[in-house]
Amino acid sequence: MGENRLRVGILGTGLMAVEMAEAIRTMEHIEVCAAASRSREGADAFAGKFPHCRVYETYEALLCDPEVDLVYVASPHSHHALHAGMCIDAGKPVLVEKSFTANAAQARALLEKARQAGVFLAEAIWPRYMPMAETIRETVWSGVIGKVNAISANLGYPVTDKPRILDPERAGGALLDVGIYPLTFVSLIAGDEITGICAQAKKADTGVDLEDQIAMTIQSGGREICCNIYASVNGPSDRTGIVYGTDGYLIVGNVNNFEWMEIYDRDHRLVKRVPRPEQTQTGYVYQFEACRHALAAGLKECPQMPHHEILTMMEILDQIRRKMGVTYPFEA
Ligand SMILES: NC(=O)c1ccc[n+]([C@@H]2O[C@H](COP(=O)([O-])OP(=O)(O)OC[C@H]3O[C@@H](n4cnc5c(N)ncnc54)[C@H](OP(=O)(O)O)[C@@H]3O)[C@@H](O)[C@H]2O)c1
Repeated sequence: MGENRLRVGILGTGLMAVEMAEAIRTMEHIEVCAAASRSREGADAFAGKFPHCRVYETYEALLCDPEVDLVYVASPHSHHALHAGMCIDAGKPVLVEKSFTANAAQARALLEKARQAGVFLAEAIWPRYMPMAETIRETVWSGVIGKVNAISANLGYPVTDKPRILDPERAGGALLDVGIYPLTFVSLIAGDEITGICAQAKKADTGVDLEDQIAMTIQSGGREICCNIYASVNGPSDRTGIVYGTDGYLIVGNVNNFEWMEIYDRDHRLVKRVPRPEQTQTGYVYQFEACRHALAAGLKECPQMPHHEILTMMEILDQIRRKMGVTYPFEA
């Protein structure tokens, strides 16, 4: 890999693979050079959309392509550990879609595998890489709304028509698909020192969670912060994140893809509205830029989402699933 260019190979050719390849088209220093499907039909369909790409009908073939600098794993949650593990075995740096794995045990094993092999490994939890993430965190901790008392965040989309979402074999459900975003918003601000979790879910006939209600307390900055999270695959939500302080509150538009931030004082007067920085590309691209920089610097992880935070988030997801009574068949 030249320092200024990153050639990405995509593993899996589903919805996200296509969306990400479209996003990368707009990037100056990054290109999708190859993609792999488990089938000839999948490979052909991808080639039809991205004719400049080499396509393979096995994942193994992609991993033998010497021109692939980074593999982006876009398979279902249930298979992230297997597929990212294959990349590591082949010595390929890898960026894995969220949720990193299906559970913390898989995450721990995968991180250890990467550590032992000395191979770069990162999670594509895209808001963590957006410049606005740091702006929000700095604003909250600048004290402009006083000391933080509470955080609420929600994310919902009507996506039960996607077969993956209702399928426990593919680690479907609201938590791993959408709940991870409001949880990421909370952890971005309050950290991960959780002192209590309550969670319950409305479930599908298949046993996966459709709508999640999560209440957590987090020890942060010398005080306990009360956090409330709602996630749904049954319908849309307003996607808002709110941080309540002793002197005011801060509202963030769209915890999935930060759009703006408003600061209010204790009398509910708008003090400031901060739009997200000018963005000519989609928010997806920052995670690839982060990988490009990390690889050029010889790092094995992205500073925006370090390995220990990846594992902690998977442990939190496990705890929440235990409270909700959701397990996947392959965990039995
Ligand atoms: N960042 C975001 O905003 C965002 C949005 C949506 C989804 N995602 C994440 O992206 C990942 C993929 O989601 P998606 O919506 O793209 O899923 P999808 O449309 O079902 O595609 C997943 C692809 O994975 C491959 N695959 C490998 N093993 C599979 C198996 N056992 N069963 C089914 N497919 C298998 C298939 O590609 P081939 O047949 O070509 O091998 C399939 O098309 C998930 O981790 C999801 O959470 C992220």
